[in-house]
This record gives sequence, structure tokens and C-alpha cells, in this order.
Amino acid sequence: MNDNIPIENFKVVLLGESGVGKTSIISQFIESSFQEDLQSSTGGTFFSKTFICDKSKIIKFEIWDTAGQERYRSLTKMFYKDAGAAVLVYDITSKKSFEELKNYWAEQIKESAPSNIIISIVANKSDLSENEVVDEETARNYATEIGALFCTASAKNCCGINDLFIQIAQKHTGSDHIKIKGEEDDLSNTINQTINESKNNGSMRINSSQFGQNEKKKKCC
Ligand code: GTP
Repeated sequence: MNDNIPIENFKVVLLGESGVGKTSIISQFIESSFQEDLQSSTGGTFFSKTFICDKSKIIKFEIWDTAGQERYRSLTKMFYKDAGAAVLVYDITSKKSFEELKNYWAEQIKESAPSNIIISIVANKSDLSENEVVDEETARNYATEIGALFCTASAKNCCGINDLFIQIAQKHTGSDHIKIKGEEDDLSNTINQTINESKNNGSMRINSSQFGQNEKKKKCC
């Protein structure tokens, strides 16, 4: 990497009900893997991926995975209060996950996140379209209403995953010339740290990443 090119850190946080696929989206984006039976997240997990914009600027996406379960909500707040982008994920087979996105997560972002935050709504699990219960048009219209980006994705089939992050990078930089560095690389550029709630004293502790053991899957995008 050229030392003279300025590097900007940009924080992106994934939010949404438990089980919608936040961890799976990041796992697919960072290391091209998918696991059928992932354990629920218990805190926040940080990953990074580098984007190059117009060869004149490098943006390091700091991507935060968060726990969707209600008991972690007070902890989750600290992840989005200084974020540049919030990715609000719902599961197309769960009406409740879309209702929660609208009634809880979008409201939280409005109240507590920076006013210029980029919001992206992701309709995940598009591979299960035969079980879809949330009308895509309705979700798209809602995204337009709140000024958010919208995309459909399948973390399982790796559809729409790169596009999701590229769309955010484009909106942030105003440039269409975004390249993701390291698509062909191994994980040497990836920083993985898991911060979990300490059961003993309510403080934070850092663990090694939960990723790394996932099997590689074929991509459709
Ligand atoms: P919490 O950590 O509890 O907040 O959940 P999460 O939003 O991180 O969901 P997670 O990524 O753990 O996925 C939950 C379940 O859905 C797992 O069993 C995944 O394998 C599955 N899953 C995630 N994305 C997809 C997808 O695109 N398609 C299908 N079919 N299953 C998916």
C-alpha cells in the first residue's frame, strides 16, 4: 500500500433482531464463509476491511457486529453513537424482524446516532424467497421514506454482500470508483477482536474471533 495515500477510518455497525444474519453477512464479506448453525452473538465484534477510492484515498471500514438479543441492547448503543453508517438488517422470512427494524432500530439511530449517519436497510436471506413474508416493495418504500439505502442479500449464497458495503462507500465518498482491497488476499489485513460483556463485573473483555473455523462456500457474487 502506498504510504502517501491518506487513510480514513470509517465505522459501520450492523444492527437488527437476533437471528437476522448480521454475523453471517460480515463473515461472508470478510472471509467468504457461511455457517448454518452460528451461535448468537453476546457483545460486539470488530473487523476491518480496506476500500480504495479513486487511487487517491483509502478508507478502512471498521465493521462492528452487534448482538441482536434484547438483553444486550444497552451495550449495543455504544457501538452506533459514533458510527458513520448503520446497516439495519431484517430477515425476509420474519415479519417481526422488519417490525423491530422500523420500531426499534431505526428509532434508536434517529435518537442516538450522528445526524449524518448513512443508513442501509438489508433484506437478508434472499435464498429463502419462497418463504418471504415481508413485501420487498414495502421495505424499499420505507427505506426511501427514511432516506436509507436498500439492498437484498443472502449471506448464505453471498448475494448482494459486496454491493451492500460498496454502496455505503460510494455514498460516503461520493465516488463510483470504489475497489475492495484484498478480495484475493488471505485474512492478513483483517483485524478480528471480539468484545464480550464480562459476566463478573460488567466491564469489557477482548477475546479472539469466533470466525476462522468456517468452511469456505461458493459465491454467487
Ligand atoms: P445474533 O448474533 O443473535 O444477533 O444473530 P445474527 O443476526 O448475527 O444472525 P446469524 O448471522 O448468527 O444467523 C442466524 C442464523 O441464520 C444462522 O443459523 C445462519 O446460518 C442463518 N443465516 C444467516 N444468513 C442467512 C441467509 O442469508 N440465508 C439462510 N438460509 N440462512 C442464513
